[in-house]
Amino acid sequence: MIIMAVESSCDETAVAIVRDGREIMSNEVYSQADMHALYGGVVPEIASRNHIIVISKLADSAVKKAGIKKSDIDAVAVTYAPGLIGALLVGVNFAKAAAMSLGVPLIPVHHVKGHIAANYIAYPDLEPPFVCLAISGGNTLIANVKSYTEVEIIGTTRDDAAGECFDKAARVLGLPYPGGLPMDKLSQGGDDSAYKLPHAKIEGHPYDMSFSGLKTAVVNLVHNAEQKGEELDRPGLAASFARAVSETLVPRTISAAKDLGYDKIAVAGGVAANSRIRADFEKVAASENIKLYIPPLKYCGDNAAMIGCQGYYDYLTGKTAESDLNAYATMAISEKM
Ligand code: KG4
Repeated sequence: MIIMAVESSCDETAVAIVRDGREIMSNEVYSQADMHALYGGVVPEIASRNHIIVISKLADSAVKKAGIKKSDIDAVAVTYAPGLIGALLVGVNFAKAAAMSLGVPLIPVHHVKGHIAANYIAYPDLEPPFVCLAISGGNTLIANVKSYTEVEIIGTTRDDAAGECFDKAARVLGLPYPGGLPMDKLSQGGDDSAYKLPHAKIEGHPYDMSFSGLKTAVVNLVHNAEQKGEELDRPGLAASFARAVSETLVPRTISAAKDLGYDKIAVAGGVAANSRIRADFEKVAASENIKLYIPPLKYCGDNAAMIGCQGYYDYLTGKTAESDLNAYATMAISEKM
């Protein structure tokens, strides 16, 4: 089964051609990050307008690179939630038109389920059940992945997403948007105990997280230093920050897997690219005898291959949409349309 998949939930426009769920025939991603960097964050209106400019060309290019004809496409999968509503509407409308003109089914895909599915692409042997930590600019959650389509959230951030927190900390340090990678680079060689930063715990909810206190601590630290004319140990601050985020994420994910009796952990989303988080997971997973799955960087960020993969498994359980499919800015992962 050949699926054309479309992703436009934030500032990446992406179209992929995926065969039988796990074979990526092409994976076109156009990032608008440079444009949004001028404003220090994603400007929704600009994102929507750029999606509409590039999406048809990307689809043509994805079909060409896959070496197929449009008539070979058996279904169209699209991210319909959650995300920036104007950005999602561009992808949903494009996918609807493509499905209608090709006379094939339309498959609505939850964006976070797509991030989890990035692991199926990278690891052909990976099968549910497992625990997945999904960490991106908009989401931070721990999921019990019971099957390819049944996903239960067992832990979530009470406020900011981990990626958002990296982006805000980077911004206050004068680093460009998106700040995760620049923060990661700045932290290399830095002393991770240079600054004592807060780690929040949510009483009675062992897998839940909170990052707003950490974010505020970094903002206050930088502003105080500026006001007093003190020099900051910037690599030390970036390393201490990465440590605080990692020490929030890693132990909770490991405990969740152990409590559920699973011996597999997957990590997904843009923040999964972080070198400290990857290294900490590798260390603990090895000592706990847990098999760790972290997709390569090209599948960590937003892409359509992961949407095509999840779309395939959703389609097998009969999840298709009618022509009145809408897009949703927020949607629980377990919610039915
Ligand atoms: O999954 P993604 O591409 O888009 C969303 O769906 O949000 O994630 C983007 C997030 C941004 O916040 C970005 O700063 C962060 O992933 N990120 C990183 C790294 N690379 C990207 N955060 C920490 N370390 C990195 N190396």
